[in-house]
Amino acid sequence: MPKSKDVFTVAHRVSEADRVAANRHRGGILWFTGLSGAGKSTLAIELEKALFARRYQVYTLDGDNVRQGLNTDLGFSPADRTENIRRIGEVAALFAEAGFVVVTAFISPYRADRERIRARHPKYFNEVYINASLDVCEARDTKGLYRRARAGELKEFTGISAPYEPPAAAELEVRAGEKSIEACLADLLAFVERRLALK
Ligand SMILES: Nc1ncnc2c1ncn2[C@@H]1O[C@H](COP(=O)(O)OP(=O)(O)OP(=O)(O)O)[C@@H](O)[C@H]1O
Ligand SMILES: [Mg+2]
Repeated sequence: MPKSKDVFTVAHRVSEADRVAANRHRGGILWFTGLSGAGKSTLAIELEKALFARRYQVYTLDGDNVRQGLNTDLGFSPADRTENIRRIGEVAALFAEAGFVVVTAFISPYRADRERIRARHPKYFNEVYINASLDVCEARDTKGLYRRARAGELKEFTGISAPYEPPAAAELEVRAGEKSIEACLADLLAFVERRLALK
């Protein structure tokens, strides 16, 4: 809810249907969630490239890029994490309204935070579980963060010292712990074509 009561909605004269017709696809959010190292960034970037090549309007929102600008004022306390995800959800919805396929690549460990975005933007929100087990992610340890978390250097690290709440009913589950990157990408592309492309 806006703080002020004196907030008014402006009507556009480019309709959503106009944008869909021009783009040949609908706008939507692919909300990736999964453990650190599961493959969210890798698959988001590959998907963005593949969709762009297919003439989609597509953009990825990922980690530090957002914390360096929009969310510079936020840290990693539970309240700040929740606000971080809330703002990303609102930005993603604006992109979707503008006709884009938006891929977001944040751990977003709390089910309630994700469900809040779904409830606010049901038309656009697609939860995509990038599923790789803790064992697999820890063995990959691409950023060396699991080793540091096990050594006690990182507190509140998702999967080790902070919870990860897997989706209860994701629109798509990508088995990134077992399949190749190419096979995961194929699953994602098929989903986008099924959900968002004009028939
Ligand atoms: N099927 C797969 N899908 C995605 N990544 C894979 C797959 N198989 C192996 N990998 C490897 O796993 C690693 C995933 O790292 P990535 O940075 O994408 O994870 P992330 O989920 O974005 O983590 P973080 O939350 O820390 O940003 C990469 O090194 C990637 O090459
Ligand atoms: Mg990442």
